[in-house]
Parts: sequence; C-alpha cells; structure tokens
Amino acid sequence: MDIIKTSDLKKSYILGKVQVKALNGVDVSIHEGEFIAIMGPSGCGKSTFLNMIGMLDTPTSGEVYIEDNNVTKMSSNSRAGYRLKYIGFIFQFFNLFNELTAIENIMFPMMLNRMPDSRKKAEGLLNLVGLGDRLRHLPSELSGGQQQRVTIARSLANSPKILLADEPTGNLDTKSSKEIIELFRKLNLERGQTIVMVTHSQEIGEKADRIIRFRDGMIEK
Ligand SMILES: Nc1ncnc2c1ncn2[C@@H]1O[C@H](COP(=O)(O)OP(=O)(O)O)[C@@H](O)[C@H]1O
Ligand SMILES: [Mg+2]
Repeated sequence: MDIIKTSDLKKSYILGKVQVKALNGVDVSIHEGEFIAIMGPSGCGKSTFLNMIGMLDTPTSGEVYIEDNNVTKMSSNSRAGYRLKYIGFIFQFFNLFNELTAIENIMFPMMLNRMPDSRKKAEGLLNLVGLGDRLRHLPSELSGGQQQRVTIARSLANSPKILLADEPTGNLDTKSSKEIIELFRKLNLERGQTIVMVTHSQEIGEKADRIIRFRDGMIEK
C-alpha cells in the first residue's frame, strides 16, 4: 500500500507582487516501510514538499493522500489529528529546551498531550536511540549527533508511521551524520518505520532505498 501519495501537487507563495512556484505538479508514491531520500539543489521545493506531506501547510492545488485518505480535503482540525497520529518531524536545528534534560525534553510534549507513563516511555525511546546512559544530560552536555538523537526520540513519542526529516545531518560532522543514518536504518528495519529524508549529500542519499530528485519544483525523471 502507498502510505503517502501526491497527485499534481502545486504550491505557490506570494512574495509582494511576485509569485514563487515552489512545487509545480509533483506526483509521488511512497510505500509503507520505505526509506526515501529527497535530493536536489537549494530552492527546488524539498522543504515545501515535506511540509505538504507532513500537513504543516496546505497546497495551492493538487492532492495529498495518507493511507489513501485525502488529507487536503479535511478540515484543519481533522488534519491536525492526522498529523499527530501519522507524522514525526526532525529538522536540521534541534529545537531542544536548553534548561531541560534529555529525558525531560521528550516527556514535555508527551505531558502536554496527556500521555500516560511519560517517564517510562521517554526512557524507552532514549534507549532505542542509544542514549540510555544520557537521560539526565542537558543539551549543552551532549554532542550535536546526540542532540539530534534526542530529537529523533522525541519525534517517535506518538509512534508515528511516518518520519519526515529535513536535512537532519545538515548541522553535523561526517561521523555523527553516519550514526544518524544508521539509526534511521535501524528504525526502518526493526520497526518498519517509513522515513522521508531531505539531504544535500549524495553519500547519505545513497544509503536510502530510493532517491527522489527534485528540480525547479518538479520531480526529475
Ligand atoms: N514561506 C515562503 N514564502 C515565500 N517563498 C517561499 C517560502 N518558502 C519557500 N519559498 C520559496 O519556494 C521555493 C522552494 O523553497 P524550499 O521548499 O524551501 O526549497 P528547498 O528546501 O529545496 O531548498 C524557493 O524559491 C523559496 O524561496
Ligand atoms: Mg529546505
């Protein structure tokens, strides 16, 4: 089954009097359990595409289907519910709370969502990403790669079927980048996690099951 599908997806931004066509007719099908790399030059629409399939923003026209449900036709309330259930986001910058420990950073959104057993779950997730011995460290006491692993653990809090990562290694050295990709692959193999990752690096892209290349808001054939 396709877990994500887009059909003639378009997104324009209006900047003053200028219209920017960020996506110009994108048709993509992603199967459940695939690990996908999105590549292409800066400004070609990669982040816009991720925001559309992650339901952070709505397209100008065209459709996004998550498990065959057309999310572009939903009310913004249902879409928010869908986003919470299906999508975990990881960004280039870690957006951790500096005053909270690793485990507290993961528990905090769980508690906002009134999730029971947050401490136990957060500990399990930190173990999963290899930080079981760093629960009480502050972000400033962790390396960049470790901080990114905390955000990955956080993104898994509601067991989303889809992980969307926008240049997750963009801020990391080669060794930490490799470790992040290995973690993605482990989540993919062990949990059947569907992953869509934007990257600039050909070497990292080649670690995915499939590379989708964008150019000027379209898929390169
Ligand atoms: N919020 C926005 N307002 C106006 N233009 C935007 C906005 N976001 C992105 N764009 C423009 O849309 C195009 C695609 O951007 P983006 O999806 O961020 O590309 P990429 O992630 O591939 O670098 C670029 O020309 C960018 O300047
Ligand atoms: Mg981008």
